[in-house]
Amino acid sequence: MATGKSRDTFGSKFGVIAAAAGSAVGLGNIWKFPYETGSNGGSAFLVIYLAFIFILGIPAMVASFAIGRSGQSDASSSFSRIAPGTQWKLVGFLGILAAIVVTSFYTTVAGWTLEYVAHAFTVAQSDVDPSAYFSDFIANPLRPVLWQIAFIVLTMLVVMRGVSKGIERYSKILMPLLLALIIILCVRAVMLPGGRAGLEFLFKPDFSKLTFEGALNAMGQAFFSLSLGMGVMITYGSYIRKSENLTKTALHVALADTLIAILAGVMIFPAVFAFGIEPGSGPSLVYITLPNIFSKMALGGVFSLLFFILLTVAALTSAISLFEASVAYFAERLKMKRIYAMLLTFAIVLTLGIPATLSQGNLSCIQLFGMNLFDFFDFISSNIMMPLGGLLIVLFVSWGPGKDIFRNELTNQGAIRVRSFGAIEFLLRFVVPALILVIMLAPLFLSLFRGEAGA
Ligand code: PHE
Repeated sequence: MATGKSRDTFGSKFGVIAAAAGSAVGLGNIWKFPYETGSNGGSAFLVIYLAFIFILGIPAMVASFAIGRSGQSDASSSFSRIAPGTQWKLVGFLGILAAIVVTSFYTTVAGWTLEYVAHAFTVAQSDVDPSAYFSDFIANPLRPVLWQIAFIVLTMLVVMRGVSKGIERYSKILMPLLLALIIILCVRAVMLPGGRAGLEFLFKPDFSKLTFEGALNAMGQAFFSLSLGMGVMITYGSYIRKSENLTKTALHVALADTLIAILAGVMIFPAVFAFGIEPGSGPSLVYITLPNIFSKMALGGVFSLLFFILLTVAALTSAISLFEASVAYFAERLKMKRIYAMLLTFAIVLTLGIPATLSQGNLSCIQLFGMNLFDFFDFISSNIMMPLGGLLIVLFVSWGPGKDIFRNELTNQGAIRVRSFGAIEFLLRFVVPALILVIMLAPLFLSLFRGEAGA
């Protein structure tokens, strides 16, 4: 399977974890997880989210790594190499599509973050109303688009340098920094008077608040946060060296991702309650709540600047992985030069991404199934494309043609013993597919049922 030129790989254990955790830890943890938790009743959502991470997330991540490492190619070609002449490559293609849809609204939010880096001191001033600032800004017809483009260019600058010299090198520096800053902000938030209610909201489970819709969102969030169900972890898997233990790597990545999500909750909910903000306020939570904290802190402007730089960094390492999935696909499947593959990705992402950004303002009139474009992209990717992609990836290695390579990849061709292999295999065969199906179909049945009851 040699292609003449050997493929670039991640050079060290820490490098693999930093890059994959860099993909996983992002806006999903710091921006999305807190507001999803807030909108879905708090702690009960957290409990079910954690269950999904361990039962669905880790096995699905191991499956993705195995497919990529065995296929040694982009997300779609890896399927073709393992199962030549079959339609399984379409699963990889669906993944690339999902990655592109995610990139289009992900870069909108990342662009907002850059605006907040540029105006970190302004938004932390006590005479600025953070909520008015945010709503004026996102509805502006120009500024959010320019920031979005700037962010995409930043992403491309790293992707251009390749896997080990670009992606890995930057992740290794930026991830530890992110952790340090979140811890500092958590300590400050927990000390706020009135913040206790926020911790209770996050940690004291009240299952009466849990709905089917909440469970669907928790699953979507688990997939989103671990960058699963699309081409990303398959592509990264293809850069992991043959000597690494895939199960351990997935476990470490999932733990890092979960830790950061919980810390983001600990950082945000005490402040939400201390300042009497509605925890279910949705996507704007981080951009309104945190400036509120900063304006009340000593050296708030400095913290604000550091926080938004690091949020940008978290977004950047994730956007890099999204870009890489599609660049690898165009470069390897369509045999394009890497630079052209990048430009093509850039063009597609802009075509979808700019309307998504403008849907917060001028284009809010365009509605699909009652959602603006931004919400629609978020919904179809997190709640439909990613679970569906996840389901097919899992079926591929548990019942489909990927069964043998799966065992070989997990045990490094028999060289290591993986004690949890039986458990992972069982989860992938029965539990994961059943859960994904039930949760994906449940809302459909519920709405049919409600529709009939209403008629
Ligand atoms: N996991 C990333 C986050 O939490 C988002 C992402 C999704 C990245 C899918 C890559 C693929 O922000």
